[in-house]
Amino acid sequence: MIHAHITAWLVALILFFVALSLNKSGKEKGAKIVQMVLRVFYLLIIATGVMLLTRVAHIDWKYTLKAVAGLWVIGTFEMILSRVKNNRRTSVFWIQFVVAFALALYLGFAVLPMSFLHP
Ligand code: HEM
Repeated sequence: MIHAHITAWLVALILFFVALSLNKSGKEKGAKIVQMVLRVFYLLIIATGVMLLTRVAHIDWKYTLKAVAGLWVIGTFEMILSRVKNNRRTSVFWIQFVVAFALALYLGFAVLPMSFLHP
């Protein structure tokens, strides 16, 4: 399940940058399609994340923060894409994206015990 989780957010990350560059180069139709696929991956990230949570005997604040950070990353993806589409400033959301993504990676890889290295 951890592999599925990592695959889901890695693919989402790639799709996010593809949608972003399509948007920026004015290929709106392509961007729309990629964004629809991206939204399916949000569901996969959340589903695999919740499945991992069901394995945890006691969900403490670290797990809660991990889930919040993950959902926050997804929120920033959506905000950045919609603001780029409307030619609005995105810097505030890029900062949030970096913070939330770093937090999710740190908690996932360095703090919480499950790992794809020792499943
Ligand atoms: C883009 C968003 C997300 C990113 C980048 C992300 C990243 C990660 C990473 C790097 C790991 C550790 C993998 C490993 O050690 O092999 C992990 C594990 C985990 N993630 Fe996420 N995640 C995201 C979203 C979510 C969401 C939305 C949830 C909850 C609904 C969630 C719940 C979990 C859980 C429970 C684990 C297992 C933690 C453990 O016990 O080690 N994640 N995630």
